[in-house]
Amino acid sequence: MKTNMKNFDFILPTKIRFGYEIYKEIGKEVKELGRSKPIIITDKGLISAGVVDKITKKLEEEGIKEYVIFDSIEPNPKDITVQKAYEEAKRYSVDCLIAIGGGSSMDTAKAVGVLMTHGGIINDYEGLNKITKSIDNLIAIPTTVGTGSEVTFWSVITDTNRHYKMSIGSPLIAPKTALVDPLLVESLPSKIVASTGMDALTHAIEGYTCTLSEPITDACGIFAIKMLAENIRDAVYTDSVDAKAKMLLGSLIAGICFGNSDIAGVHCMAEALGGLYDTPHGIANAILLPFVVEYNFVSDIDKFAEIAKALGENIDGMSVRDAAYQSVAALKKLNKDLMIPTINEIDAKIEDIEELAKRASVNVSVGSNPRSVGEAEFLQIFKRAFEA
Ligand SMILES: [Fe+2]
Repeated sequence: MKTNMKNFDFILPTKIRFGYEIYKEIGKEVKELGRSKPIIITDKGLISAGVVDKITKKLEEEGIKEYVIFDSIEPNPKDITVQKAYEEAKRYSVDCLIAIGGGSSMDTAKAVGVLMTHGGIINDYEGLNKITKSIDNLIAIPTTVGTGSEVTFWSVITDTNRHYKMSIGSPLIAPKTALVDPLLVESLPSKIVASTGMDALTHAIEGYTCTLSEPITDACGIFAIKMLAENIRDAVYTDSVDAKAKMLLGSLIAGICFGNSDIAGVHCMAEALGGLYDTPHGIANAILLPFVVEYNFVSDIDKFAEIAKALGENIDGMSVRDAAYQSVAALKKLNKDLMIPTINEIDAKIEDIEELAKRASVNVSVGSNPRSVGEAEFLQIFKRAFEA
């Protein structure tokens, strides 16, 4: 097995509790943190679906009756939304954060935690390790199968002035507890399973192949790729509860992987798309993934051959290089099967590729791409995607 043997640190500060009906433990978990007055950070869709109600009932049963709900989370959360949520947290003097939702809710909750402990505005903390104090009061409850944000050290927030997705990273912002319950993703719409599931697969592939990968992230990464690839079609197109549960778990394991290594070129480009056009994050990743893998696969043919196999390709009898290249075909097939749009079918315009490449090239994770990449290469990859 090819792995990147070197000295490394591996950190997982989050207590993970996985299982059917585990959300019912929310009150006990708040008490275990020694807190009593949470703010719940979520979106209106989860309010109307009754998910938030189910969870607040459990809080009340544990005697936690004073809580505030902030339900204005949008996809690609903005700095101004973080500020509004923070103002609410201050107004009600809350002592605890509960994020219910996908990456947008969890990333916003992390950002609010940063402001509660450090003050200022969230834009002050862009980059890696600008945080000096731990957020010790965040419980994350994921309701999509994609971000892995319940176990990562990253919060991605859009800077509204620059139309740019800022990455704020530090182990100090990881949730204290993750309650990961397959019941909460059972009725997730197919489209969301497809887009968030492709985000998770991108995390696993980038976490497994990036320059910061190490043996533990490799183990998590390749396991997650296999688990996600084996279940994503069933999770999207059938009522299989088991397939959705495995997507949820695969997404979490992918989060452990890239949280300790990094993401890479796909996310640099996808975040540029998301910043400029508000493209849903999973869709942006899915669109760009085959094209970035096509660029990257020569950097580590052993790993990309393993990826092709994990994606279900029969690579018997192939040279390692051919097997590695097969990962590109597998990802294109997957996008087609999941009806992911092409870059020409979203709001993106080919006239913007220079701006997009420029934005991608200043992403904090550019240096983690397995093959050296910069503005000129991003431009070529965007061009290929538009011309495909
Ligand atoms: Fe992502």
